[in-house]
Amino acid sequence: MAYQTVKGTYDLLPETLLKFQDLEDLFRHFLELYGYKEIKTPVFEYTGVFQKENDTSDMVTKEMYTFSLNGKDSLTLRPEGTAGVVRSFVENKMYGTAEMPVKLAYIEEMFRHERPQKGRQRQFTQMGIEAMGDKDPLIDAEVIALGYFYIRAIGLSGVKVLVNSLGDNESRMKYREELISYFEPHQDQLCADCRNRLYKNPLRILDCKVDHDSELIANAPKMALNEQSQVYFDKVKHYLDIMGIPYEIDDKLVRGLDYYTDTVFEVVSTNEASGSQATIFGGGRYDNLIKEMGGPEMSGIGFAIGVERLLILAEAEGVFEEYKPSIDCYVINLNEDPDYMLQIVNDLRNNGLTTEMNYYSRSLKAQFRSSERKNARFVLIIGEDEVKDNTVTLKDTLTKAQETVKKEEVSARIQQLMEDYYE
Ligand code: HAM
Repeated sequence: MAYQTVKGTYDLLPETLLKFQDLEDLFRHFLELYGYKEIKTPVFEYTGVFQKENDTSDMVTKEMYTFSLNGKDSLTLRPEGTAGVVRSFVENKMYGTAEMPVKLAYIEEMFRHERPQKGRQRQFTQMGIEAMGDKDPLIDAEVIALGYFYIRAIGLSGVKVLVNSLGDNESRMKYREELISYFEPHQDQLCADCRNRLYKNPLRILDCKVDHDSELIANAPKMALNEQSQVYFDKVKHYLDIMGIPYEIDDKLVRGLDYYTDTVFEVVSTNEASGSQATIFGGGRYDNLIKEMGGPEMSGIGFAIGVERLLILAEAEGVFEEYKPSIDCYVINLNEDPDYMLQIVNDLRNNGLTTEMNYYSRSLKAQFRSSERKNARFVLIIGEDEVKDNTVTLKDTLTKAQETVKKEEVSARIQQLMEDYYE
């Protein structure tokens, strides 16, 4: 039986993985610029970490990989990063830290049982940040700035920042009632999911994937923020202006997860290559999640970027330099016995030189071809004479120079030649 990857999962082959790592390295650089520290949380958690009472999100109600091994504990593969990081913030009492907010980041695999398509997998990677324990519009703007300038640094064009405010708890409770009164008489026009959302989280109806073009939704009342929320949101926008971040206000942006309050945002791509999955990253503030997780009444904010989606766009826009692997040394052996070659290869590697060797008895020509395919800077040739004289023949493929070098001196000589060349 020949196995294949499970539907919605994929192998990251070495060349693609290098691009993935490029994107991660640049992200880590931005984490340093903005003072975020990386954290790793377990791949699975108690289901309650992700599932809160009356949750209406697709992710929690339909897409979680939940299992139980002893019939007692219900466990779930993490579908997103925020809940686990907030659980850790509370469990490790980070809320007692003197310097707030606590700024944490993650680059981790997530699991959602979604219908796979381009840019939508069942296992995918998120790069995310969470700033927890303090609430100030400056923090909201800083979080958006990190994500936006990171995307810009990759060199992607055609990205749009969408922002909205869902208001504080008071504004949202009022809006909730308005939406229920508005949608209640028209329940027959709502999809099954939205009928279920109506009394639990009516804001999510605005974000319905089935009915998003309906007139009913288009004519729904708009959120009226209370004064406090409006002032807060105006400051966030002001700080975005100060940093030169272009954005659009999207009053239908409510995001797919239930925990958001006040500022929410998404960065979407206008590039055709992203297909129907145009959201590169999304996030927002959560005033209630830390308390719901058993912590103090504190707020947090964060976002997560889907690395696979980013990769699709980055490849489509040709931002990666062509990858041409190379090595320092290739050792050609023309003797039956590999011992002498192995001593040299061992010495080269232990001196920090990337080295490949010939494993079988092959012609000189075939071995030279291998060294070319591996793009070796130096080719070392060991014939009968070299073994007898305790030497190697060293060929520099850049300068075309060839010389005989004593076996004990070969690593030092190569390092010298490398230094001389770049001086
Ligand atoms: P989310 O919008 O569910 O938010 O996911 C964030 C990003 O993860 C999406 O914009 C997308 O790029 C990527 N993503 C989501 N699902 C998939 C999938 N099935 N395949 C590929 N990529 C996917 C969150 O997860 C929140 N935890 C973000 C956040 C952090 N909010 C506050 N802090």
